[in-house]
Amino acid sequence: MTEHNYTIVTTSADELIEVLKSAYMEELETVMNYRTNSIVLDGVRAQEIKESLEADTQEELTHAGRLGRRLKQLDASPPGSAAFTASQESLQPPEDSTDVLAVIRGVLDAEEDAIATYRRLVNLADEADDPVTEDLAVEILGDEEAHRTEFRGFEKEYSDS
Ligand SMILES: [Fe+2]
Ligand SMILES: [Fe+2]
Repeated sequence: MTEHNYTIVTTSADELIEVLKSAYMEELETVMNYRTNSIVLDGVRAQEIKESLEADTQEELTHAGRLGRRLKQLDASPPGSAAFTASQESLQPPEDSTDVLAVIRGVLDAEEDAIATYRRLVNLADEADDPVTEDLAVEILGDEEAHRTEFRGFEKEYSDS
């Protein structure tokens, strides 16, 4: 292996760690906002969304756990809150607590962001020759695509009525 190639491998491994850390924080921000919205929404029509948000909160928390443990296996560590910057503007609890559609759209934004993150992680893990992280990213990517499908269905249902 040439020195040049070695540098490329090292760089992608470092970048992989950074993206794993930001994916970890992204999951925890999602946990906070899904949990909050599952509590603040009001009304009979919101019930289905509240239940779905509760279920997905648990899944996102599981994702964070898996990412954190993978970081540890790679001799890195999941970050604490000092490293955290919030970014999910469209997922803040709506002023009108019956505005179910606003929450659904915020969730769709969060899921699109997550999908982009895991696609990036899949590619980086491949470049860094790390099949274990790649497998993990592929599995989580599948979960996020399922969440998106679920909330696309809700968007249809709630924008028609
Ligand atoms: Fe997730
Ligand atoms: Fe998700």
